Amino acid sequence: MRPEKDCQLCSLHVGRTIMVLPCGDPSSKVCFVGEAPGEKEDLSGTPFVGRSGKLLDKMLAEEGVERSSIRITNTVKCRPPGNRDPTQVEMDACRPFLLAELQDCEAVVALGRSACRSLAGLTAPMKEMANKRMSIDVGGREVLLIPTYHPAACIYRKEAREGLRETIRSIRPLV
Ligand code: URA
Repeated sequence: MRPEKDCQLCSLHVGRTIMVLPCGDPSSKVCFVGEAPGEKEDLSGTPFVGRSGKLLDKMLAEEGVERSSIRITNTVKCRPPGNRDPTQVEMDACRPFLLAELQDCEAVVALGRSACRSLAGLTAPMKEMANKRMSIDVGGREVLLIPTYHPAACIYRKEAREGLRETIRSIRPLV
């Protein structure tokens, strides 16, 4: 189940250049879920190709995980104007597509607060949630969810970098 090419289920379609669908290995058991496409993603149609994507790639490589061996997607497939956070309504409209993308996964890494909110309704500060494993229901199946820091938070914050690094290390055996 994928969004229609001209999807208009929420207002994000208005500013969309290209819809950003998942990248990476479609048969991977591990999926990283970010917040929403930014400017570079909207222009290229690929998740995490801008500044935070570069940092994510670097951290994955440093921990011995190849970007191409995992799956990467976002809570919403279209860029919010001015890179604002996606609203609950926008995430709700896109959630059926997100859940379809996770159908064969064993582990989901929720990058940042929007992903945590969309996937598990979590609203606590990231400091309290990061790397506390839980399970979510994906189509009647229990799937491991690991809340963690968004790569954008890691650009300037050491604590966030260490948290995301710990997450990447912990999923390595599943990749
Ligand atoms: N930030 C995200 O959450 N997702 C992207 O694809 C790029 C930046």
